[in-house]
Amino acid sequence: MNTKTLRKLSGKSKNYRKSKTKISFVKDSPVTTTIAILKKIPKIVDVSVDDLIKSNRNDKIISLFNKTKIDYSWSFSGKTRKDTAYITHGYHRYPAKFIPQIVSRLADKYTSEGDLIIDPFGGCGTTLVESKVMGRPSIGVDINPVAVLITKAKITPIEPAKIEKEFFELKKKLETYSENTKVKIPEHERIDYWFRPQEKKELAFIFAVISNLKEEYIRNFFYCGISNVLKNCSIWLQKSNKPTRDFEKKPSDPIQTFYKQVKMMMRGNSRFYELLREKNRLKIPSQVYCTDARTIPVKDNSVSLIVTSPPYVTSYEYADLHQLTALWMEYTKNLSDFRKRFIGTSYHDKKRLVLNSILAENIRSELFKKNKKTAEEVATYFSEMNQVFVEMRRMLKKGGKTCIVIGNTSLKGVEILNAEVFVEQLYNLGLKIVDIIKREIPSKNLPSVRDEKTGKFAKISDKNKVSAYPTEYILIMEK
Ligand SMILES: C[S@@+](CC[C@H](N)C(=O)[O-])C[C@H]1O[C@@H](n2cnc3c(N)ncnc32)[C@H](O)[C@@H]1O
Repeated sequence: MNTKTLRKLSGKSKNYRKSKTKISFVKDSPVTTTIAILKKIPKIVDVSVDDLIKSNRNDKIISLFNKTKIDYSWSFSGKTRKDTAYITHGYHRYPAKFIPQIVSRLADKYTSEGDLIIDPFGGCGTTLVESKVMGRPSIGVDINPVAVLITKAKITPIEPAKIEKEFFELKKKLETYSENTKVKIPEHERIDYWFRPQEKKELAFIFAVISNLKEEYIRNFFYCGISNVLKNCSIWLQKSNKPTRDFEKKPSDPIQTFYKQVKMMMRGNSRFYELLREKNRLKIPSQVYCTDARTIPVKDNSVSLIVTSPPYVTSYEYADLHQLTALWMEYTKNLSDFRKRFIGTSYHDKKRLVLNSILAENIRSELFKKNKKTAEEVATYFSEMNQVFVEMRRMLKKGGKTCIVIGNTSLKGVEILNAEVFVEQLYNLGLKIVDIIKREIPSKNLPSVRDEKTGKFAKISDKNKVSAYPTEYILIMEK
């Protein structure tokens, strides 16, 4: 964020000090300047909506964002796939995953070795892998058991000779497979929907062989491998993220595709293991839990840094995209129940929503004029995110930072100002703004586009598409 802009906004000179109200500008720090702007407004935790409106805080937040210029140093546009998929990061595809370099830069700036880092929406574990490399203990949480499986595999360095031996033994068993092999094939209409009988039987055999391995961490490594090739072995339209069948598709041979995947993972594992061994960080603790971001098993006031990228509103991708693994691993029998666990789905109950943000209330009212259901979905999303922020505040140490990577989007022609709303909610919960970084998402990392009518992710070629988030923000707040 531009310091000059902030100064203009506050109407104060560079070295202004006022001890009574604790407003202070120290040199050119954007941190103190931003805090100063908002400190002039009385604290409003537990105050009425009227008080909020009077304070004009939402206008100030909006202008703060409007004046924030793109900081190109955060685009990492020079990074290649090799850089972003280094060590274990390339094990498994995952939608909207972090560039690892964002995490390491934030961790480097805001923590020291030994400090605890948390990711409440851990996804495929990028934050945890980077934390381990940097010698910071970490905890990740995700509601998606597939994300947790991938994370477990990615954060566990395995002695290279050990995994080679395990793979050798596994291959010996898999090579006994023939058309006549007797295999217990799962009976599930969704598995039949996605897989032809031939691939289904071969996959069932691979799963059975892996499940017979003794050690859990070795099983997880191979389960993660098979999980990442399920799409290739199914009739899921390969280039689509949407669950679409392609009856023309010739699915890949499961055993051979699995071998290729495991070899790639073994190379990543060796590099990870060596890197940690060299730095003497093989034993840095890293833990992942399959739970809701609103109930994180971490003590109060114990966390130095939270780095996270939350789900987006009305996006079902995680449940839909990972249904193949969820079905084979028997994480769910019922896809619609699976979806309801995710924040940002269209499911909502009738409980009273606490948005804790005037901006969110305004967005809800605008949407209400267009579509009542969408308005309630978005309100539910903001209310649930506010609950996550309450949990984040509980865990953070005093002076601990939270870094939230989020973009804005639009639904039914209404701008959904996620970033601005999150800042307002966090501020209302007592956190201070440290910095707001606007970064450009290089096109290869662009998550997707949204269909203007449905709000769901769409193919680039679809009509009605609007760019979803070509830029995004990193919101840095402090307890
Ligand atoms: C944008 S992704 C995070 C990606 C992550 N930064 C990475 O690098 O892989 C958002 C994640 O939030 C998770 N999620 C959605 N609802 C959740 C909830 N109620 N509690 C915890 N995680 C949730 C999704 O499963 C998804 O993995």
